[in-house]
Amino acid sequence: MKRILVVAAAAGAALALVGASLLPAQSPSPAVRAADDGLAMTPPMGWYPWNSFGQEPQNERLVKEIVDALVSSGMKEAGYTYVGPDEGICFARGEDGHLKTNRERYPSGLRGLGDLIHRRGLKYALYSDAGTRTCSKAMPGTKGHEVEDMRRFADWRADYIKIDWCNTEGQDIVATYTTLHDAQHAAGRPVVHSLCSWGDGEPWKWAAPVGHLWRTTSDICAPGQADWPHAMKMAAENEKLYPWAGPGHWNDPDMLIVGMPGLTEAQNRSFFSLWCMMAAPLMAGNDVRDMSDETVRILTNAEAIAVDQDPLGVQGHVVRTDGQVSIWAAKPLFDGSRAVLVFNHGKTQAEAALRLSDFGLPADAEFYVRDLWRHVTSNGAAGPDGSFPVTVWPEDVRFLRVSRSSEFPLPPIIVADTYLLTFEAPERAARKLAKTLTLVNKGTAELAPWKVAPGLPAWLTVTVSTDGRRQTVTNTVSPGALRRGMYHALVRLDNVEPVSGRPMSAVYYDVDLDVGGVGLGLSK
Ligand code: GLA
Repeated sequence: MKRILVVAAAAGAALALVGASLLPAQSPSPAVRAADDGLAMTPPMGWYPWNSFGQEPQNERLVKEIVDALVSSGMKEAGYTYVGPDEGICFARGEDGHLKTNRERYPSGLRGLGDLIHRRGLKYALYSDAGTRTCSKAMPGTKGHEVEDMRRFADWRADYIKIDWCNTEGQDIVATYTTLHDAQHAAGRPVVHSLCSWGDGEPWKWAAPVGHLWRTTSDICAPGQADWPHAMKMAAENEKLYPWAGPGHWNDPDMLIVGMPGLTEAQNRSFFSLWCMMAAPLMAGNDVRDMSDETVRILTNAEAIAVDQDPLGVQGHVVRTDGQVSIWAAKPLFDGSRAVLVFNHGKTQAEAALRLSDFGLPADAEFYVRDLWRHVTSNGAAGPDGSFPVTVWPEDVRFLRVSRSSEFPLPPIIVADTYLLTFEAPERAARKLAKTLTLVNKGTAELAPWKVAPGLPAWLTVTVSTDGRRQTVTNTVSPGALRRGMYHALVRLDNVEPVSGRPMSAVYYDVDLDVGGVGLGLSK
């Protein structure tokens, strides 16, 4: 099990900051717990195919092209990490009961695809279903095969598994997702578990010990058909669930529709700001091979992403409405500042009055305002009643940080150049071999060196050196004593966020060692 230790510490601290008067009538039970497996301590970021492609044309070529686009567009550098097929008809169940890659669509095998993704410094996301078949019935579900399927996903080196809830008649939802979690744990590979029951069974009330994120709503759109009013309905449903989110356990109002055909620039900006304010997972759903400059600017806005990825992990919510404008606040950030979102739902320009009390400041406080889309900082000035006006264009937002300090630091966002190192050595070679992996912190905070978790095999040593926000992880293998064969190690690194002192999402990667030319890239 994801061990259950932190009860009041995470959920309670977040709630204390929100303020009792703002809690919904039904507050979360004390059984809601933060994860302590060190995964998804901030909302997962990545790309999933469903919103733009549905099942077609999901295949290896598409995923490879998407990987290239994530790298070349700067999305990877902005923090988007998890990528892979959704219900992309990528496997079938063989007669022996084990899952097998659909080689027509994925000729390198699902392990080969994972290796490619890892080599590029991205993480591998796969999809399955908790019932007998997936939603379209094109792929087998995990029912009755939980242990071997999760083992197969680990063999394929998946880092993230989304598990749908179709064709589950008669199944108990808590027991099913618990079994799947236990099976993932037994398979021995760290994996982010994304529950996808569209809010069925109210997973926010029980899933924190067995999953890292859970869908709270129905699908945000039919493939290829972004639908603004529907998306706003999803946002409103998810907003109410704010007390249940926190580090390691997130409400998921579904993938992003930013950059899909049919949305205006203001709608894209608003959607992205709402998802960042709600600390929602940021799984892009547009065709990233073909993006306008404006879409790239929105999806890679580091100041907006910093609000989403804030290590306190508080889900912001509406504190009041003023006509057609909703005022979202109560999102304290790691440096003591607050994120504030002013969203104009209407089709005409609107003015709203922000009150210093909306974000916990006394009416006579000196403060600074950072505009996260205009990228400017100004001296705040409130009137005698402790409020100041903001103008918002139709269906647009003002996304702000308010602070008593004029500095607006960005929390760490970690980007790696690779998550897979492969070594080849002749049998009984005396010479040591070394390869490095680079971790770059895209935030502004300085990090202590990542700490290597114990338990490495005797043939591998790992050291970390720091140079500003760049850390070099040196992997040295000593194949001397080893017999011919394939060897594998999973290296895990841990760190704490420098300002809040909270654990950060662990970094981990694979090291493969081929002694005597047995051959790498085994794929099933
Ligand atoms: C469900 C999920 C979607 C997608 C499809 C695949 O509808 O909610 O996100 O995974 O299944 O069929």
